[in-house]
Amino acid sequence: MTSSHEGLAPQVRLRTLGEIERAGLWSLDRVITEYLQGGSGSELTVRRNRSAFDRIRFVPRVMSGLPHPSTATSLLGVDLRIPVMTAPFGSDGYFHPEGHRAVARANERFGICGVVPEAGTFSAEQLATAAPKGAAFGQLHPMGTEANFRSMVQRYVDAGYRGLVLTLDCPTPGWREHFLLNEFRVDKRVVSGNYPPDAEIDMEQALARLNPATQPAWTWDKLSELLADYPLPWLAKGILTAEDAVAALDAGAAGVIVSNHGGRQLDGVRSTIEALEPIAAAARGRGAIVLDSGIRRGSDVVKAVALGADAVLIGRLSAYGIAAAGEDGAYQVLELLRREIETVLILLGRGDITDLDRSSVEWES
Ligand SMILES: Cc1cc2nc3c(=O)[nH]c(=O)nc-3n(C[C@H](O)[C@H](O)[C@H](O)COP(=O)(O)O)c2cc1C
Repeated sequence: MTSSHEGLAPQVRLRTLGEIERAGLWSLDRVITEYLQGGSGSELTVRRNRSAFDRIRFVPRVMSGLPHPSTATSLLGVDLRIPVMTAPFGSDGYFHPEGHRAVARANERFGICGVVPEAGTFSAEQLATAAPKGAAFGQLHPMGTEANFRSMVQRYVDAGYRGLVLTLDCPTPGWREHFLLNEFRVDKRVVSGNYPPDAEIDMEQALARLNPATQPAWTWDKLSELLADYPLPWLAKGILTAEDAVAALDAGAAGVIVSNHGGRQLDGVRSTIEALEPIAAAARGRGAIVLDSGIRRGSDVVKAVALGADAVLIGRLSAYGIAAAGEDGAYQVLELLRREIETVLILLGRGDITDLDRSSVEWES
């Protein structure tokens, strides 16, 4: 029902992240490939998310005499072996039957954690049971009825999650033309792990929440008031301006995720790596700063940290990993990122990723 996955082609090896992407896409139907890779509109933002990284140059120092570099850090009290977490991507069952269960297990084995999606193939409880450390943050959309929102938050609390991620850039789905061309509709079964037919909550209401186009948008005040009743810290995802970062922190967020949803929401917005510096300047000292959209290799992670991010999220990279080889593929993505980050740190002459600063990079004019 969920995936066209037929296993790894015998000739495909997973020696680089590019090979993992190719192997992952090889295993998927064309329609699913377009769903995973695609963005909205003319995909200007999808391309800009990548091209902006190319405009950042490293500024290495030699003879630093530093010992072997450290890539470890922590975010909101959660230890990370590298400053990377997995992003909440819904519809995960299309990419591998084990979906986020495979991602969370790989995360836990490797030593990072991930954000699990509200609209995923497995429930919050199933993922917390499979790998509690690998699935530490629960994502949800602030929309729909208050009762259903509260019920989902409470489930994350009861299942032992360490924090919440509120996706704010999705008041309606982006204009995705591949949906129109392919007449593709996401199958409810791959997005409703949290809302199975026998759930005691109102199924129709819950599924309506996953179809945000039918729901009125919320405000900072409402979000802040509701979340004040729960003990978990929360991150605001989908922030692209310093003004919104400050508004999120004022509303009680423990940090922000600088994200344009991987170019899948409003096409034509700035890339996240371009948006990062002013946001980091406004939020520094007040909360965590995470970035996603366009991370494809270890050097991208180092550039994001140098420009002010505490950590990054990987979305499609992680999906390519499970599509290529389930949990092992997801693990290999993290291991290749780690090795490249370490190499870049040594060549940059910087010893500890948490000490990286603006002097390690420069923008091409
Ligand atoms: C297939 C797919 C499904 C996604 N579903 C969600 C979702 O349900 N909620 C959410 O907050 N973000 C979702 N995202 C966005 C990711 O969390 C993340 O912001 C994005 O993938 C980062 O860009 P990258 O793929 O270039 O790493 C999705 C992304 C993809 C590729």
